[in-house]
Amino acid sequence: MTKRTPLRDSQRTDLALGIMSGTSVDGVDCALCAVTDTQVKLRRHWQVSFPKRLRERIISAAKCQSSSWEVAQLHHDLGRFYACAVRSGLGQDRPMVIGLHGQTIFHSPKKRNPATFQLGEAAWLVEELRLPVVSNFRAADLAAGGQGAPLATLFHKLAFGQQRRVVCVNNLGGISNVTLLDFRAEDSPRILAFDTGPANMLLDIAVRHFTEGRKKCDTDGKLAARGAIDEFLLSEWLEHPFFRAPPPKSTGREMFGETFWDTALRRIKARRLSCSDVIATLTEYTARSIAFNYALHLGAAPDRVILCGGGAANHMLVGRITQNLRALFAEVEVVKSDSLGWPLQAVEPAAFAVLAWYRIKGLPGNLPETTGARHAAVLGQLAVP
Ligand SMILES: Nc1ncnc2c1ncn2[C@@H]1O[C@H](COP(=O)(O)OP(=O)(O)O)[C@@H](O)[C@H]1O
Ligand SMILES: [Mg+2]
Repeated sequence: MTKRTPLRDSQRTDLALGIMSGTSVDGVDCALCAVTDTQVKLRRHWQVSFPKRLRERIISAAKCQSSSWEVAQLHHDLGRFYACAVRSGLGQDRPMVIGLHGQTIFHSPKKRNPATFQLGEAAWLVEELRLPVVSNFRAADLAAGGQGAPLATLFHKLAFGQQRRVVCVNNLGGISNVTLLDFRAEDSPRILAFDTGPANMLLDIAVRHFTEGRKKCDTDGKLAARGAIDEFLLSEWLEHPFFRAPPPKSTGREMFGETFWDTALRRIKARRLSCSDVIATLTEYTARSIAFNYALHLGAAPDRVILCGGGAANHMLVGRITQNLRALFAEVEVVKSDSLGWPLQAVEPAAFAVLAWYRIKGLPGNLPETTGARHAAVLGQLAVP
C-alpha cells in the first residue's frame, strides 16, 4: 500500500480571480487563475467593454471635470458593473478570493502629499457574488513611502522569471511599464519595475480625435503603417523630463493624457501633419521612450523582452519597439506573452488575482526595491460576505 503524504498548505492550489481596468479605459479584463505559493496558471480570461457613457464618465472624473457627487455615483455604478462583468464569465467556479484593482481616476505619487484613487465599490461584488473581495491595493504601498505602482511585479516574477537569464516584461496598456527580472546570479536576483511613459494612451486619443470618435484605436497599426515619422516633433516630445527621471517612478493620464495632447495638437497643426503621420510619430514616441528608459535605467542587457497588454496587438508598435530595442541590445529576443500561454490582456488581471491571494495569506504583495516603499506591506482591503 502506498503511503499518502498529506499536501502541505503551501502546495495547495487555490482559485483566485483578478479584475483589471486600466488607464486606457477600454473595458474590464477578468482572469481566473490557479495559484500556489510558487506557481500561477491561467484557467480562463474574459473581457467586457465599457459602454460609451460609462467610459465618458470615467474620463471626465479622471480629468477633474466631475463633481464629488458624480464621482460617488460612479464609484457605486462601477462596483455594480464589475460584479456583472465577473458574473458574465465565472460560470460555476467559486474562487476563494477576488482581487479588484478598480478604475484609477487619480494617481500622484509625488514625495509630498502623495495620493492615488481607484473607483469601484467592492461591497457590490461581495453582495452579488457572495465571495471575499480585496480592493484598494495601492494605498498601503503609498503610505509606506512607495509609488503604489507598479504592482504586477510579483506576478511577473512568478510567471515569467527564468533562472540565469535577464527577462523584461513590458506591459503596453495606456501607460507602458517594465519589470526587469535579472536572475543571472542565483543568490542575488535583481528586480526593477517602473513606468516608462505612454504606450497606447496618446495613440488612442489621437485616433479618436481624427476619426471624431468613430475609431477607438489604431487597430493593428494600420494608420501608423501609412504615415511618416516627424523627427522634429518626436525629439521635442522625447525631451519630457519623465523619461530621464530615475526609478522608482510611475505616471498616468495626468501626464500623458488629454493635457499633453492639447499642447501637442497645437504643434501638430502648425506642422500641418496628416492623421497617419501623427499616429506614426506617436507610435515611434512610445517605442523610443521605452528604448530610452531601458538604456538609461535598466543597468542590464535583457536576453528576452516579453510584451503584453493590448498594445502588443498593434503590429506596428511591436515592430518599432523591436527595432529600437535591437539597436540597443543586438541579441535580444522580443516575444508576446500569448506565445507563452498568457493572452495579452490576461497578464494584468492575473497579477491582481495573485495579489488578492497574497492578501488572504497575509503575505506582502509589494516589492519595496521596485516601488520605493520603506518596507514590504500587505496590500489591499478585504471585504467578506
Ligand atoms: N488590435 C489592436 N490594435 C491596436 N491596438 C490595440 C489592439 N487591441 C488593443 N489595442 C490597444 O490596447 C489598449 C487596451 O490595452 P490594455 O492592456 O487593456 O490597457 P489598459 O490596462 O490601459 O486598459 C486599447 O486601448 C488599444 O489602444
Ligand atoms: Mg484595458
